[in-house]
Amino acid sequence: RVPCPAPGAHQDPHRAARRAEAGFPARTQQLRTDLPLQGGAAVTFSNMPDGGLILAVDGPSGTGKSTTCRALAKRLDAKYVDTGAMYRVATLAVLRAGVDPTDTEAVIAATRDLPLAVNDDPDSTEVLLDGENVAAEIRGREVTQNVSAVSAVPEVRENLVALQRRLAAQAHRAIVEGRDIGTVVLADAPVKAYLTASPEIRARRRYNQDRSAGREADFATVLADVIRRDELDSSRTTSPLRPAEDAHLIDTSEMTLDQVLETLINLVKESQR
Ligand code: DC
Repeated sequence: RVPCPAPGAHQDPHRAARRAEAGFPARTQQLRTDLPLQGGAAVTFSNMPDGGLILAVDGPSGTGKSTTCRALAKRLDAKYVDTGAMYRVATLAVLRAGVDPTDTEAVIAATRDLPLAVNDDPDSTEVLLDGENVAAEIRGREVTQNVSAVSAVPEVRENLVALQRRLAAQAHRAIVEGRDIGTVVLADAPVKAYLTASPEIRARRRYNQDRSAGREADFATVLADVIRRDELDSSRTTSPLRPAEDAHLIDTSEMTLDQVLETLINLVKESQR
């Protein structure tokens, strides 16, 4: 069972103090997409019977998914659910417990009552493990190298999928991003996108991201990791990475973020009801 403090997490009275302690800049400065979003007013159409909005976005890492989904959530006045961050927090909990990530039983025990809270505000990157903001740590090398092993464990997925479904339902309007959103988590989503790009381009993007975040990075290592993770994520038995039959495939290799964003907005518009 995963406790779900997420919906009210940002109303926590101690939040500002914790954020300051974690060295966070003001909220509005956390995200730089370099997208000309100011020009586009929020569009609030719906594609769910209850007047809400759901878009499922899947694909491997480095396709621009996260940046695009955050920007899109702002444009569509929706929440942003980053499911990869949840698997990363589970992995961090495993590593902190001193557990071998390939020891399935120990991984299950270490993640059973995961004190995880995510913030679904697209302006926030806050992810809490037991009240501590671990947003930077979950992007580090150790977690990145071990997340495929942890996320391949069916019991870990079961817990997190339940949390993801709850978050999407509570959000009412949500862009939900991951690897199995269109195939498993929200298989009935009214619109699904699957982003792809060549491994070299994806590795280049991840490398640039690492460097600009001040993390040590070496291109050959990043490329090898991208290819290794693709293989692990696509070949695992439970919820392998693959496009849903009804997903729209978007190859972002030659596209700017703006173009991907426009393409997604058009898909969502077409799914209006
Ligand atoms: O999107 P990301 O790179 O932060 O995801 C980290 C890992 O989590 C990725 O290697 C695969 C796994 N993941 C998953 O198995 N299912 C999801 N819905 C999201 C991520």
